Order: sequence, then C-alpha cells, then structure tokens
Amino acid sequence: MDSLYRFSSIASKMQPSPIRELFKLIRQPGMISFAGGLPDPGGFPVEPFATCADVLERDGREVLQYGASEGYGPLREALIDIMRDRIDREILPEELIVTSGSQQAVDLVARVLLDPGDIVVVEAPTYPGTLHSLRNVGARFAAIPCDADGMQVELLPELVAGCESATGKRPKLIYSVPDFSNPSGACLSLERRRRLIEIASELQIPVFEDDPYGRLRFRGEAIPTLKHLADDQDLVIYASSFSKVLAPGVRVAWTVAAPRLIQSMVMMRQGEDLCTSTVTQALVAEYCRRGFLENHLRHIIATYAAKCRLMEEALSRHLSLDQAEWHAPDGGFFFWMRFLAADGSAVFDHAVKDKVAFVPGKAFFPAEDEQVGAVQDGNRFGRLCFTFADAGQIEQGCARLAQALNSAAVTNDRE
Ligand SMILES: Cc1ncc(COP(=O)(O)O)c(C=O)c1O
Repeated sequence: MDSLYRFSSIASKMQPSPIRELFKLIRQPGMISFAGGLPDPGGFPVEPFATCADVLERDGREVLQYGASEGYGPLREALIDIMRDRIDREILPEELIVTSGSQQAVDLVARVLLDPGDIVVVEAPTYPGTLHSLRNVGARFAAIPCDADGMQVELLPELVAGCESATGKRPKLIYSVPDFSNPSGACLSLERRRRLIEIASELQIPVFEDDPYGRLRFRGEAIPTLKHLADDQDLVIYASSFSKVLAPGVRVAWTVAAPRLIQSMVMMRQGEDLCTSTVTQALVAEYCRRGFLENHLRHIIATYAAKCRLMEEALSRHLSLDQAEWHAPDGGFFFWMRFLAADGSAVFDHAVKDKVAFVPGKAFFPAEDEQVGAVQDGNRFGRLCFTFADAGQIEQGCARLAQALNSAAVTNDRE
C-alpha cells in the first residue's frame, strides 16, 4: 500500500513535532505538566466571550460567508488600534494580514521568501514550531547563541560571513522572539535591538519579529518592538497572535509588513486556506470592540505574575545550587533551566517516572545536520511553563523535579 504514495522529498524527511509527541508520553493520571506552552484554562474569558456570539444575530449573513484573505474588516480596525500601541504609528491597511494563528504567518513568510537550501538565522534556543515550518520548505539554519539578554547580536556579522564562505549564500531571514522568548523567557535588550536593526539593515537581511508574548509583561519596563525601532519599514516583519492573550482555540493572529510582502502572503494563502474563519474573527473583533481584551489582559497578567513567583519560590526551595541554574522571567510563559549534573533528556526520563513533565532543551535547537556553521545544542537544558499548572501543582511539581534531578545525577555518576 505504501508504494501507492510517492511522497515529496521534504515530506519523506518530515519528523513529528517533538513537543506534540511528548504529550502522548505524559498523558498519564497524576502527571503534573510544565511541558506545554498553554495558557491557564481557568483564565479563559468564557462568559464575556460567549456574550460576543450575539454578533451572529447582528451580522450573521456576512460572517457566515467566505471572507477576504486579508482579514475581516472590523477585526482589522481593532488590530490597527492594537498596533498603534506596539509600534507607535498608524499602520496602513495594505501592511496588514490576519492569519490562522501566527504559525500560519511563519509558514506563509517561509513559503514566499525561501527556496530549498536557503539559510535562516535562528536564535539558539528557538520556538520549535518555526523550525518545523522552515524545515517544510527545505531551509537550513544558522543558530546564534543567546544569553539572559536574548540573541548575542554582536556575533551576527561573523555568523553571516561564515554562512557565505561555507555555502556561497547569505541568510535570507533572521527569526527572533525578542519579548519573553519561547523557550528562554529572555527579552532582547534595547541596546541589542538597536544593534540588530543596524546590522540587519547593513546586511540587507529582513527580520521576522514574532511577538505573541510581548503584552504579557508583569515586571520591569516595556522595551520598544523591533518594528517600532526600525526606520526602514521593509526590514521588520512583525507577527502577533490572540493565542496567548485571549485563547489559542480562536486561531486568530496577524502580521504587519511591507505591502509587497503582505500581497505575496495573501496570494500564497489563497492556495492554502483562503481566509481565516470569519466567525472567529468576528467574535474576536466584537470582544475587542466591547473593551473586554484590555480588562482580560490586566487579569491574566496578575495571575501569571503570581504563578511565576510561586514557581520561582518553589524552585529555590526545592532545588539546590549544584542541580540547576535558572532565572525568573519578567513576563511570558517560561522558565529556561540549565541542568548542572545531567542531560535534559536523562532528567526528563526520571521526571516522567516521578510524574512531572517539562520539555528537554534539544527540541528548541535545529538538528546538527540542519545547521550551517558552529553547531549549537540544548542537551543540558529544559523548558518549564508556569502558566498552565495550578498553585498546588507548581509546588509539588518542583519538589518532584528536584527528586528527578537527584536520581538523574546519581545515574550519571554511575555511568
Ligand atoms: C514564539 C511563538 N510563535 C508562534 C506560536 C504559534 O502561535 P499561534 O497559536 O498563534 O499559531 C507560538 C506558540 O506557542 C510561539 O510560542
């Protein structure tokens, strides 16, 4: 039967998403999960959102119809308001497209800009969903190391020169999550943002700024987005999403970029999903129009600040300094942990036995054979999400993690 399908060369090499595979392993009774990057379901604004469904009675004949590929008018208006705060200027309608999740934005940008073999600069560590979309178009990766202030931008010119001498190709795109990175929780410092814009502009490489977490800051001063800092509006492709600030189930996100790129994304998606569901766009638009989003943001920011503090305290109480290093983020969803006495995958195996789960660091790096230049790996790391678990689970999960770290260190010493 297999021979009936002659899969494309890219499809034959495809691997399942490591995080989604992990979910199968950790779906056990009693498991405490810090693994998925999931919002707190207790915080979903079920009732206010449900009241917005009366938009169907008002505008049902329009919103049950196919919609424009660029997005539903009232939602586009709400997004123009949201973007005014993020980039401090009025965007033009032709700079905006609504997508079905920002995952689709990454996919569309990859498909309109990249040919097989093209190179993308990615942060090490980075969001695996982006690696997946880029892999789907046959991209290779130049991985740039990160620290507590995000991407080590000063290494960029050398990295790009290295790609050019090794492959004869200049990277075509730089992908970054500057605010509360998934997975590291780090924010790119203002100084590095400015330098990144300068270098990208000198090298003429566009930057994809993926910003699903930027509005979820509970400590410290907001840092301007790359899109805000860039004078050349073609340089930065900005994407954000309602997934983390409202609910991932709505599958509504947006991209702001040069009109020429937006047009290409529109044409590409016309061979893909035609448009984002008009019904959910209308619900989200109505939710924003009634002012619910701003209230909801205040509420979840307070909840996430409290959960982050609980995890910070529980980790400090249960883990010893020779087991792991981490530092608490100022927003977003994640703690990024460096294990001092064992690899992330070994710690993970013990953790699952002790009924606590996290994502081993390897998932956030391209495979060795996909990287151009010095290979980066995440073997010693792990990502812990603090937003999904409740207070009791955070406390107990950190205690279990300490136990798993001990067992992993003992096993490591024996080997
Ligand atoms: C950095 C980053 N980009 C994109 C996405 C995808 O989000 P969406 O639900 O909008 O497709 C995620 C989801 O976890 C993410 O963390």
